[in-house]
Amino acid sequence: MINITIDGRPLSLEKPINLLEAAKLVDIEIPHLCYNECLSIFAGCRLCIVEIEGRNKIETSCSVLARDGMVIHTNTERLRTLRRDLLDLLISNHPTDCLTCDKVGCCDLQDLCYEYGVKNPSYIGAQTHFTIDDKNPIMIRDQDKCIKCGKCVRVCDEIQVTGTYEFVGRGFESTVTTAFDQPINKDICRMCGQCISMCPTGALQNKQLVGYRNWDLKKVRTTCPFCGTGCNFDLNVDVKNNKVVGVTPCEDAPINGTELCVKGRFHTDFISSEERLTTPLIRKDGELQPASWEEALSYTAKRMAEIKAEHGPDSFAALSSARCTNEDNYVLQKFMRAVIGTNSIDHCART
Ligand code: SF4
Ligand code: SF4
Ligand code: SF4
Ligand code: FES
Repeated sequence: MINITIDGRPLSLEKPINLLEAAKLVDIEIPHLCYNECLSIFAGCRLCIVEIEGRNKIETSCSVLARDGMVIHTNTERLRTLRRDLLDLLISNHPTDCLTCDKVGCCDLQDLCYEYGVKNPSYIGAQTHFTIDDKNPIMIRDQDKCIKCGKCVRVCDEIQVTGTYEFVGRGFESTVTTAFDQPINKDICRMCGQCISMCPTGALQNKQLVGYRNWDLKKVRTTCPFCGTGCNFDLNVDVKNNKVVGVTPCEDAPINGTELCVKGRFHTDFISSEERLTTPLIRKDGELQPASWEEALSYTAKRMAEIKAEHGPDSFAALSSARCTNEDNYVLQKFMRAVIGTNSIDHCART
């Protein structure tokens, strides 16, 4: 066992884990901006610093593994002063437009500045000014708000395995960008939005949620209707207009964590789409015409009975859908086999 003490709380570990994760086990949240448990360690933001007794050097808790006998302090006045200074440096090259930023209320940088009382930057100097990239369908990229935490680079490389972003340049000139600085487009990006969810600031924002502040939206946990993986996420509901406007992932989703594919993350515009069918349609005189459910079901049953009598059960085939529940799919195969009398039943997931 590895026995350590964090802020006076004893902890026994069976295997070495990093100090940031160890602290969570005794309900201590160490501030961090560049760490995520699903990604490789970057140790760039330095906010997760801790003091370890017997060591002069301040350590980053995300990159140091617990060792037997360690006594760790996470919130001393020395650490708080250093964190305040780090935040001050970050916002010195960051637009302080929180009053109108769509990320307000769910921005990790804003939360930490609030906690540490960092109101205005005290370092006055050059600032970067990038052009906002909003030419793609899913996100607004505002590099002036990027704090170079590298989470988007890592999630795209390590989880999405696409590698759309990379760090370019050195020092003040360094930036996170795409190959040849081209705008995000479908040739270089899968439009999955994983990077948007990882971004701790307003540098990458979900276009569907722009125009809503975090507290404008009610979150409703649900399961994705698009495939059998069963990912969970929160539907974001604009309660004033009773409209679903987007999706945010939830870390505690048992199947997918914060991961979602393009369909799960961006599908919600179909819910209020004008093009959505709201009634059955029956073709009459060569034109599809709206009908009641009763009329459509009676018509379908009548025609199926006629076709079966004339051409036999094997004149039918059915394709069911990954977007239906297991129960719906089961009922369709039962219907085809037991009622119609054919084995010609298949499922779109095989195509
Ligand atoms: S949307 Fe997905 S594929 Fe595109 S840059 Fe972000 S993580 Fe990479
Ligand atoms: S765009 Fe966001 S996630 Fe990517 S490095 Fe900048 S702050 Fe971090
Ligand atoms: S988010 Fe994508 S992978 Fe997950 S259930 Fe929906 S469609 Fe399937
Ligand atoms: S979270 Fe450890 S250095 Fe950023």
